[in-house]
Amino acid sequence: MNSKQTKDDKMEKIISLCKRRGFIFPGSEIYGGLSGTWDYGHYGLALKNNIKNFWWKKFVDDREDMYGVDAAILMNQKVWQATGHVAGFSDPLVECEKCKKRFRTDTIADTKKCPDCGGKLGTEKQFNMLFKTNVGAIQDESSISYLRPETAQGMFVNYKNVIDSFHPKLPFGMAQIGKAFRNEIAPRDFIFRTREFEQMEIEYLIKPPKGDEWKSIFEEFKNEMIDFSKDIGLQEKHIHPIEIAEADRAFYSKRTIDIEFDFPFGQNELYGLAYRTDYDLKKQSESSGVPLEYLDEESKEKFTPHCIEPSFGLDRTILAVLSDAYTEDEMGGEVRTYLKLSPKVAPVKIAVFPLLKNKPELVKKAREVYGALKKEFGAVEFDDNGNIGKRYRRQDEIGTVWCVTIDFDTIEKDDTVTVRDRDSGKQERIKISELVSLIKQKMA
Ligand code: GAP
Repeated sequence: MNSKQTKDDKMEKIISLCKRRGFIFPGSEIYGGLSGTWDYGHYGLALKNNIKNFWWKKFVDDREDMYGVDAAILMNQKVWQATGHVAGFSDPLVECEKCKKRFRTDTIADTKKCPDCGGKLGTEKQFNMLFKTNVGAIQDESSISYLRPETAQGMFVNYKNVIDSFHPKLPFGMAQIGKAFRNEIAPRDFIFRTREFEQMEIEYLIKPPKGDEWKSIFEEFKNEMIDFSKDIGLQEKHIHPIEIAEADRAFYSKRTIDIEFDFPFGQNELYGLAYRTDYDLKKQSESSGVPLEYLDEESKEKFTPHCIEPSFGLDRTILAVLSDAYTEDEMGGEVRTYLKLSPKVAPVKIAVFPLLKNKPELVKKAREVYGALKKEFGAVEFDDNGNIGKRYRRQDEIGTVWCVTIDFDTIEKDDTVTVRDRDSGKQERIKISELVSLIKQKMA
């Protein structure tokens, strides 16, 4: 098997596991799907929420200089006129004259010949990726709105509210987690490029810098983005900060670093960090006619703050986490598949089993242990379906970190249970009274 096949194979295996085990399903599946959309199931949602919560804790709750925002997805169309999205948020597109398929020009090797049917490709056009809609009962120019293509502007348009309500001192940041929508020409690679996705973004505002003053803050955010990636279980060797050349940066960005990741289909963008200068606040101020300035109480100076923006794609994070967690090994003479998820993000931390389903004394004790662990850790499952081997396999596939089994020794001998470690498959006997503190220790 060549390496391309192996990589395709890994993506296929991840997609199949996600569907089989209730992580992620194709959007609108019973109608044959809707291209570029995916639905999260119980475990996928738990994984997503754990990542979101971890991000929020690290970048908002654990700091003193961050203000949360949850802006409406639909915004006044002037927001997107001001930023240039209405006029120019486009990708280059070509259409095959024979099969009518459309391609993003920068993703195909030969821009003259259709990669699917070999037909002639037409001339390149610009395709605007904004999803347009109308707000209210009247459908005219004035009622046009767009599903936001980034969460960022929801924060810039709330800058004045944050200043008026909280009177923050510079530097400070606004943070938001939410959906974004782009009518991508070619959604691809599962949840890597979709038409509806989630972002976790920070707009960090600083005094207009004299010279290179902004560089240390930019560097700090770059390091924190890498630390975050490692904290949620991504392997350091798969994370690559890439300096984006001036010619490839958005025109308003003075510096951009992409954090790229080795996905199964190759190295590609996971996150972006950009120094957006005062572009956004100035544009929104010019367009709305509302001053979006900062008054420095000490110097009495008024100025427009500059912005450093760390931007994280949540769905891409999930794909990266799944990609690094997906593992196959051999256990007990059989091939086993498991998700080597960090306990911080695993949807289920612990599963509790009675050894046999038909022994009421085992089930009763297992229910007691389950109740105590659930109260403490929340993400705990009770499982008595099938034999123990099958239960381990199921829990391994969803990345459950520890399996606790109640057997005859528990009730007849010494009130101990077995705790099985997902990665090594090794079991240790532990007193029930010591379970909570042992698991807390392991989680730290
Ligand atoms: N506010 C800046 C901004 O939106 P971007 O590089 O266009 O910058 C930021 O997007 C992040 O959002 C990307 O690094 C990626 O993680 C995620 N992202 C962008 N487009 C996406 C798509 N079509 N599907 C999934 N994630 C996407």
